[in-house]
Amino acid sequence: MPKSNEPCWCGSGDKFKRCHKAPGVAITPGEISPERHVPDEVAKPSWADYGEFTRWKESNVKSPEIVEKMRRTAKDAANTLNALGKLCTPGTTTDEIDAACHDMAIALNAYPSPLLYPGHASPYPKSVCTSVNEVICHGIPDDRPLRNGDIINMDVTLFKEGVHGDTNATFYVGEVDDASKKLVEITRDSLILGIEAAKPGEPLNAIGAAIETFAEANGMGVVKDFVGHGIGEQFHTDLQICHYYHPGLNTVIEPGMTFTIEPMLTMGSWNAKMWKDGWTAVTSDLSRSAQFEHTLLITEDGAEILTQPDDKETHPFWSLPGLL
Ligand code: MF3
Ligand code: CO
Ligand code: CO
Repeated sequence: MPKSNEPCWCGSGDKFKRCHKAPGVAITPGEISPERHVPDEVAKPSWADYGEFTRWKESNVKSPEIVEKMRRTAKDAANTLNALGKLCTPGTTTDEIDAACHDMAIALNAYPSPLLYPGHASPYPKSVCTSVNEVICHGIPDDRPLRNGDIINMDVTLFKEGVHGDTNATFYVGEVDDASKKLVEITRDSLILGIEAAKPGEPLNAIGAAIETFAEANGMGVVKDFVGHGIGEQFHTDLQICHYYHPGLNTVIEPGMTFTIEPMLTMGSWNAKMWKDGWTAVTSDLSRSAQFEHTLLITEDGAEILTQPDDKETHPFWSLPGLL
């Protein structure tokens, strides 16, 4: 650990005493377990085979065949996420959640898309993202046991039948304080409003406008550094979905498009800073952040949620108390 006046370990550039010193407040990096194996029989995306991306121009509008495959892969991802939610109790480590995600993916004959996904510093080392409290996204599972009162976002992406399905939700660990519950419920509701704004004929920026207006009216910040994305045969296509109003994002929404909406809302600053690992993004003021994500298909009159689990009773997107 650095001394009080030395730069914080997290790479923020701030003094340690102004950053992560407050004991028991901040999430700190833990031990990351050895790489988990994927059997040869499971079909893999390019990064698992070659350690890098193969990128190509993928149409925003998918063929009916691709849509059918995406429906199945997206449902598998949603069922996996829902099952992981049941493990979010005090004492469970995020590495145990990763092991469960990895094993479920393989049992489904799916590849866990995050595993070895190329990044600026190093490939993502695990099969699921686990983002606790002030971690905005891309938290790496490690040996930290979940504590009563934590909130944890788990982001599951599977690759099967040549297509990806991507979904996340924020879960409560034990008894959570009311301010955190409000953050999580407003974030869930902002995704519902974003989905309702995703209609053919409207510009893509209508989605972010709906999310931002609602979040700010409820006193929450909207993270700008991470966006939703086109998805299909590639995990992330070049189509971007901002969660705030971006005037330039005026591509018209069309039936057959598939993309994610995945708003990250904060109780305080929406500014993100990155840990040295090159993945873990936390709020600059260490206030809590929540996120929900669905993979969507644009239909003739709206958006269909592809990442629907068979059992919605235990999934926070459907089961949280309604504010809408
Ligand atoms: N699932 C994330 C998303 O919603 C991306 C995770 S990339 C990883 O786009 F490498 F961190 F897994
Ligand atoms: Co996504
Ligand atoms: Co995701």
